[in-house]
Amino acid sequence: MIKVGNMRKLKKIALLGGTGNLGKGLAMRLAIAGYDVIVGSRKLEKAKEKAKNYSNEAGVQISAATNSDAAIESDIAIFTIPWEFAFETARTLKSQLKNKIVVSPLVPMRKTNSFFTYLTLPEGSAAQKMARILPESIIISAFHSIPAVKFADLSAEFDWDIPVCGDDEMAKREVINLINSINGLRGLDAGPLSMSSAIEQLTPLILNISLRNNQRNLGVKFL
Ligand SMILES: NC(=O)c1ccc[n+]([C@@H]2O[C@H](COP(=O)([O-])OP(=O)(O)OC[C@H]3O[C@@H](n4cnc5c(N)ncnc54)[C@H](OP(=O)(O)O)[C@@H]3O)[C@@H](O)[C@H]2O)c1
Repeated sequence: MIKVGNMRKLKKIALLGGTGNLGKGLAMRLAIAGYDVIVGSRKLEKAKEKAKNYSNEAGVQISAATNSDAAIESDIAIFTIPWEFAFETARTLKSQLKNKIVVSPLVPMRKTNSFFTYLTLPEGSAAQKMARILPESIIISAFHSIPAVKFADLSAEFDWDIPVCGDDEMAKREVINLINSINGLRGLDAGPLSMSSAIEQLTPLILNISLRNNQRNLGVKFL
C-alpha cells in the first residue's frame, strides 16, 4: 500500500511530436516512473498508434492526443520535434502553453562533410529562441545528450548525467526531479537559460567523438 505521505505529486507530461526517436524513450520511461504521459502528434491517429505500441512495450498506460490537445492537458510539455520545425509548432501553441513549463531538448546542428557542427542562432541558443517565441511559458533546456535509440531500449542499462538550464529555479527543480525519476539518469543544474548553448553543443561533440572513435550511444557523466 502506498503511504500518502510518501506520494509525490506527479505532473502530466505532453511529448509534442512524441511519435519519434526521443519521444519513444521519454514516453515509456516517464510512464514507468509514474507520470501521466500524453504522446502528441500532428495526427491523432498516429499518436494513438504510437501510444498503444509504447504502452504495450512498457506495460503502462500512455495516452494520445493532437499536439494542441496534449499541450492544453499538460503541466509540462517537452518539444520532441526536430529543431527546424519546432519553432513553427511553438508559434501555433502559444496560448495552449501559456504559464506552463516547456522543455527544449532542441539541438540546432548540421552535418558538414564528415562532422557535425552546432549552429549558433541569433537568439544565442534554441532554448533562448523558444523563450522569445513563448514569452508566457517557462522554458527549461534539457535532454540534449541522450542517445535516443539506446534510451528507447528498455533492456538497456546506462548511467548518464543530464545538464539542465533555466531561469525559473522552481521549474528547473521540477524538471530535474522528472529526470531523476528515470533509472540511470541524473539531472544537474547547469545554470541560467543563457548557458543553454553550452549544453546544446554537447550533442554534436558526442556525435563527432562517436563517429571518429567508432563508439555508439555515448552519453555524458560528470565525475
Ligand atoms: N534523436 C536523438 O538522439 C536526440 C537526442 C537528444 C535530443 N534530441 C532532440 O530532440 C528533438 C527530436 O528529435 P527526434 O530524433 O526524436 O526527432 P524525429 O524522430 O525525427 O521527429 C519527432 C517527431 O517530430 C514530428 N515532426 C516531424 N516533422 C515535423 C514538422 N514539420 N512539424 C511538426 N512536427 C514534425 C513528427 O511527429 P508527427 O508526425 O507525429 O507529428 C516526428 O515523429 C530534436 O529537436 C533533437 O534535436 C534528439
